[in-house]
Amino acid sequence: VVREATLAGVVLELLVLREDVRFDVPAERTAVLSERLFNSVSTTVTPQGVIAVARWQAVPFEKALARARERGWPLVVLDGVQDPGNVGTIVRTAAAAGAPAVAFLEGTADPLGPKAVRASAGNVFRIAVAEARWQDMEAMKGLEVWGAAAEGGEPLDEAPIEGAGALVLGSEAHGLRHGGVRKVTIPAAEGVESLNVAAAAAVLLFELRRRQAA
Ligand SMILES: C[S@@+](CC[C@H](N)C(=O)[O-])C[C@H]1O[C@@H](n2cnc3c(N)ncnc32)[C@H](O)[C@@H]1O
Repeated sequence: VVREATLAGVVLELLVLREDVRFDVPAERTAVLSERLFNSVSTTVTPQGVIAVARWQAVPFEKALARARERGWPLVVLDGVQDPGNVGTIVRTAAAAGAPAVAFLEGTADPLGPKAVRASAGNVFRIAVAEARWQDMEAMKGLEVWGAAAEGGEPLDEAPIEGAGALVLGSEAHGLRHGGVRKVTIPAAEGVESLNVAAAAAVLLFELRRRQAA
C-alpha cells in the first residue's frame, strides 16, 4: 500500500520501519523502531513492519463527476457505507473495473482512514475521491441517478445503468437513504435477502465494464 501511494505521487511525511524490515521509498523523515515499540504504535494485530503518515486531498465533487463522465462512467457514490473494509474494497473494485471516481456521502466511513486505505490496497490514490452531499446528486442536471437496491429495482439484465450519471450504493444497515432515484437490483436466489454492499458493487461495476467493452 505504501509503495502504491508513493507511485501515485503521495508524499510521505513520515516512514516508520520495524528494525528487521528493509523498505526503500522516499519520505521526508524515516524512523526505525524496535519490534516492541513498533508493535505498540501499530494499529494492526500482525503489522507488516511499515507505517507511513501522509496527507492526501479529496477532490471537489464537480471534478470527480467530470472525471467519471469524460470516460463514460457513472460517478460511484457511497451512501452511508459504514464499514471501512467495505469502503476500501469498493474503491479497489472500482479501480479494477476502470471507474475513474468515487464520491462519499455523509455517514460513509473515511476512505482515507487506515483500514479503508489498506482494504483498497492503495488504489484509493489512483482514482478521484470526493466528498458529496445529496444536494450534489439533485443538482446533476440532465444526468440520471441510479441506486443499487437489494430488492424492488429493475433487474440488472434489463436496467440500462450504462447511461447513469451516478450509481449509488446503500449502507449495510439501511440501504439507500434517499428516494427519487431509478433502482437496479441484482436478482438473487430465493430466501437471500441481500448481498454485501462490496459484492453488489463488484457485480454492478464489472457489468458496466462488460457493457462498455461490448
Ligand atoms: C446489505 S445491503 C442493505 C440491505 C438493507 N437491509 C436494505 O434495506 O436495503 C447494502 C447495499 O448493497 C447493495 N445491494 C445489496 N444487495 C443488492 C442486490 N441484490 N442488488 C443491488 N444492490 C444490492 C445496495 O446498494 C444496498 O443498499
